[in-house]
Amino acid sequence: MSARETLARDLERARRRTLELTDFDDAELRRQYSPLMSPLVWDLAHIGQQEELWLLRDGDPRRPGMLPENIEGLYDAFVHTRASRVDLPLLTPAESRDYCRTVRSAALDVLDTLPERDEDEIAFRFGLVISHETQHGETTLQAINLRTGAPILQTRTPPPNGRPGLAGTSVPVPGGPFVLGVDADTEPLSLDNERPAHVVEVPAFRIGRVPVTNGEWKQFIADDGYRQARWWSARGWEHRVQAALIAPQFWNPDGTRTRFGHVEDIPDDEPVQHVTFFEAEAYAAWAGARLPTEVEWEKACAWDPGTGTRRRHPWGAQEPTAQYANLGGEALRPAPVGAYPAGASACGAEQMLGDVWEWTTSPLRPWPGFTPMIYRQYTEPFFGGDYKVLRGGSWAVAPDTLRPSFRNWDHPIRRQIFAGVRLAWDA
Ligand code: AVJ
Ligand code: FE
Repeated sequence: MSARETLARDLERARRRTLELTDFDDAELRRQYSPLMSPLVWDLAHIGQQEELWLLRDGDPRRPGMLPENIEGLYDAFVHTRASRVDLPLLTPAESRDYCRTVRSAALDVLDTLPERDEDEIAFRFGLVISHETQHGETTLQAINLRTGAPILQTRTPPPNGRPGLAGTSVPVPGGPFVLGVDADTEPLSLDNERPAHVVEVPAFRIGRVPVTNGEWKQFIADDGYRQARWWSARGWEHRVQAALIAPQFWNPDGTRTRFGHVEDIPDDEPVQHVTFFEAEAYAAWAGARLPTEVEWEKACAWDPGTGTRRRHPWGAQEPTAQYANLGGEALRPAPVGAYPAGASACGAEQMLGDVWEWTTSPLRPWPGFTPMIYRQYTEPFFGGDYKVLRGGSWAVAPDTLRPSFRNWDHPIRRQIFAGVRLAWDA
């Protein structure tokens, strides 16, 4: 398959998923499930609007587009907060789908007819659009998870079984230099915040072999972890009290959890999700551990100390299939710990990609030599803000847009995201 054919296939794959996740009636698509999330119909047209901008207008919003200016402006994420989008005169679901279809067909024509010149730039541009669309697929899943009422999504492919005895165990990561980040020549689809590759020194440390589980979290709760300020940072405690946190989001008082509208027992061997950074930090303190920095995390994920080189994925060069990681969003939940022995990294850490995003202690900052990509507002406006970096990707992330160098970020109080915890220790 040629590089352009691969891009066309990945565009199609992303779109099929978008349409699946928005295959609901108009009233459903216009509902606001939570002020934290947009109505689904906003994401739908916003996906088309971004694709039009990057592929058909060379990233220049002053170039005439298909939508009237005042309508296009409704899809600017910097102008309209998520909470306010439900009140905007948005395109209808049918208009949004038509718009996305028209943009896509023009984008595929461009892909077909662009003269052969800078293939890398073409791949990057289309890859960016694919990544943007699939990231909004995860956003859509976060929204649907917050929806009240009978379930509208079902698990199609349940994840594999786990292995016992792994919760709470750790693996050593040797100290020394490693190559943090990536460059265009090895990862042509990497985004601006992952570049450039550069050598950093990382002292030896230990990292959780698997993410922290629900069973472990129940012990934290039983030991009054949520009620003892000593485990919490000052800011974390303040938030815990003010938000009255007593358990992960979606855990019910009767010991069940609600997941995409399904009420079920909380499986002990599954990675905990829907915790804030502050809860993650408190849990780590209670457990006699700490959270990793994002640099430590990336070393444990990608570095092979035996060869002194980076692996493309934790397990090696093979593409991320269902044998290696729980990705793609179909499971609707993390896999139990130990479900992916073949996916272990060189240091032996498992489930680094997929399952849950993992909170790190790192604020979002540029790597030295950072150069903004054409989509300047993707990363740069967020540097220095009140964000913590999350690594690894959840079960909801599309496999073809994830890398060990991929960086996500959110406010430390957020927990509707599919975020969990992996512990670290000084060596
Ligand atoms: C990288 C997940 C933080 O959702 O704010 C989507 C991704 N940027 N559209 C976000 C994104 C623009 C971004 N995160
Ligand atoms: Fe977006």
